[in-house]
Amino acid sequence: MAIVAPDGSTLSVPYAVDVPDRIRKERYYDPAFYQLEVERLWPRVWQMACRLEEIPAAHDFVEYEILDQSIVVVRTEDLGVRAFQNACRHRGVKVAQGRGTCEQGFTCPFHGWCYGPDGANTFVSRARTFSEHNLRAPDIDLVPVRCEAWGGCAWINLDDAAPPLRQCIEPFATVMDAWKVESLRTEWWYACRLPVNWKLAQEAFVEQYHVLETHPQLRIPGRYPPRDRPFDGRAFVDAELQYLHTMSDGMAGMVHADDVRVAERLRDIELPADPTLALATWNRTLNDAVTAWHRERGRDVPDLNELDARGLNEPMGYCFPHHFVLPMYSSASSYRFRPLGPEETLMEIWSLTRCPSGDTPARPVPPEPWESDDPRWPPIPAQDFSNLPRQQKGLHARGFEYMRLSEQVEGHISNFHRAIDGYLAGLPHDRLTPALRSINVNPLEMPVVDIGI
Ligand code: FES
Ligand SMILES: [Fe+2]
Repeated sequence: MAIVAPDGSTLSVPYAVDVPDRIRKERYYDPAFYQLEVERLWPRVWQMACRLEEIPAAHDFVEYEILDQSIVVVRTEDLGVRAFQNACRHRGVKVAQGRGTCEQGFTCPFHGWCYGPDGANTFVSRARTFSEHNLRAPDIDLVPVRCEAWGGCAWINLDDAAPPLRQCIEPFATVMDAWKVESLRTEWWYACRLPVNWKLAQEAFVEQYHVLETHPQLRIPGRYPPRDRPFDGRAFVDAELQYLHTMSDGMAGMVHADDVRVAERLRDIELPADPTLALATWNRTLNDAVTAWHRERGRDVPDLNELDARGLNEPMGYCFPHHFVLPMYSSASSYRFRPLGPEETLMEIWSLTRCPSGDTPARPVPPEPWESDDPRWPPIPAQDFSNLPRQQKGLHARGFEYMRLSEQVEGHISNFHRAIDGYLAGLPHDRLTPALRSINVNPLEMPVVDIGI
């Protein structure tokens, strides 16, 4: 397919999505396609670079790596954030490594050039030995990278022409603001090295169609009461509690253990005889109980029933191109995916929860990536991971041409790929940003939609 640019010219994208519910397999391994993403997608998008609790105090910094680019994100004196390309302006050595605190700024380990926490060059040893044109300010300051803070995270963009962060991540930002995502803190953080393409890795988590087959323990009899028998309220509550326990143990925190305990206290609840009313009563009562429990402990948590009433209590928020949040009651899981090669991905999972206001949680330490078959993975991610390497291998089968998506419930995958095609075609931001509004939504059960590209 060719995409028509504003000047009427057409830019062709290899293996483009021309039938919306079919995704060509080459998009997941072809080196030339991957190279197009490297050149035309990643340098133009806002990326979640770190969680703010990784850099809690002024002058704390972390290094964010994406493909061959290293970026240093620094907390400023006023606790804002700024970022720089991580390369000494002398001969290119990275000035920062990993994480730390740069009270006096950064000193290059090679010849000792120095930079303030604001990136300005503050020292060149034996400066008189250089010709004047090689020491001109601001050419010898660290190169700034756009950086904004929102939602408890710092975000970077390598493209000076991109619109501000918020415009590019709506309506995700509005939904997550209502759910007070900024007051979440890291409880744990894991990473996985997956032998699959970065898009394939994400796509295992953005639809519900796989749940019953991949996660059979979530098929819990009684959660969806049969219509031909009288409603059994006790059996229904037991099934709901079993579901919450399975999600909590299985995901190691997708439903937070605190919220499961709050739900357990409702075990003897009296529910109406009508199943629809019973479900509504259960949800409303549990939402109220969770909200109250956390508020009594000084935690900043939204009124979950009020969010329900406004249609903002979403089970998932997707943020193009590599980040999402899965809110469950008070807490959430959060994911980030980074390509390491055409068929290799670094995936991270955070368990996020609310802390009493004023508490300073420990600075989270980046995890050593585990392999996808590491026995330490909890059952639910282990099940998802077990399919992925098989899928990446299967895609190479000579007789397999393209994915056949359900246009009703796997539409997000198509919408996401067509947005990528817009970037690969080099479309301007004023055409791409509106398209992202169809992507940055709850992707579960999402149909194929016209994204305007
Ligand atoms: S490369 Fe940094 S001081 Fe020489
Ligand atoms: Fe899953």
